[in-house]
Amino acid sequence: MSDEHYSRRMPTAPEGPAAEARVNDYDSFAEAYTADNETSLWNAYYTRPAVIKLAGDVAGRKILDAGCGAGPLAAMLRERGAIVAGFDSSAKMLELARKRLGPEPDLQMADLGGPLPYPDGAFDDVIAALVLHYLEDWTGPLAELRRVLKRGGRLIVAVDHPFAIDTVQMQRTGESAYFETRSHDEEWTVGGRSVLMNFWTRPLHAMSDAFAAAGFRIAVISEPPPAPDTPVELFPPEFGGRKPFLCFVFFVLEAS
Ligand SMILES: C[S@@+](CC[C@H](N)C(=O)[O-])C[C@H]1O[C@@H](n2cnc3c(N)ncnc32)[C@H](O)[C@@H]1O
Repeated sequence: MSDEHYSRRMPTAPEGPAAEARVNDYDSFAEAYTADNETSLWNAYYTRPAVIKLAGDVAGRKILDAGCGAGPLAAMLRERGAIVAGFDSSAKMLELARKRLGPEPDLQMADLGGPLPYPDGAFDDVIAALVLHYLEDWTGPLAELRRVLKRGGRLIVAVDHPFAIDTVQMQRTGESAYFETRSHDEEWTVGGRSVLMNFWTRPLHAMSDAFAAAGFRIAVISEPPPAPDTPVELFPPEFGGRKPFLCFVFFVLEAS
């Protein structure tokens, strides 16, 4: 999977300097990542169109963008009439979100792994796009996201699809690890620099159990391929051109 600014691959094991480098250090590559995110297959032609479609008519809804990064989704939701707020654990990503969104939205530095700085029932919807898969334990984070939602509100989630991760695992090792909640490292090239990322993957039934335990009902599971208008040159060359492939899974969850 690659493009000019940002490519991902799974190393067999981190060795040498990469092993000592900080993982998931968005502060250190915020600008280059954000530039890539604007036009990348993974974000512009996969995650964002899928989330926006699932969100539907958002006019007048109060929406929290959890792990908002530089705010591209919040901007699209606001264009569609939503009242947006967001948080992220990276100060640099938030700085870029403030630049994009201006002074109006409530943008805060907060970690999804801890208590969130919002009152109970503050939001109609929460979007958690490509952030939950950084966390091993979803219990506390999902409970917090449920707490800040109104009853009947929606949590829209996008995460790495565990089948896609397991396919790569099997190609590498010849064995499936599908049934384990497990972490893996990826080496991304961002702005010409190699950075180490770490992700947690769990089977679909573990996701479903975690959603139910936190008081969510699954309304939709969506497994789209990249959007039909994805430029052919953005497809990973090893996939052989404009062929649909699976990378992410999306959920619409209702807060009971
Ligand atoms: C892949 S980016 C996605 C950004 C944005 N949601 C989007 O779809 O463009 C992941 C973002 O999650 C943030 N993040 C990672 N772990 C987090 C955590 N535990 N709490 C809050 N934000 C986190 C990162 O700083 C980064 O901005």
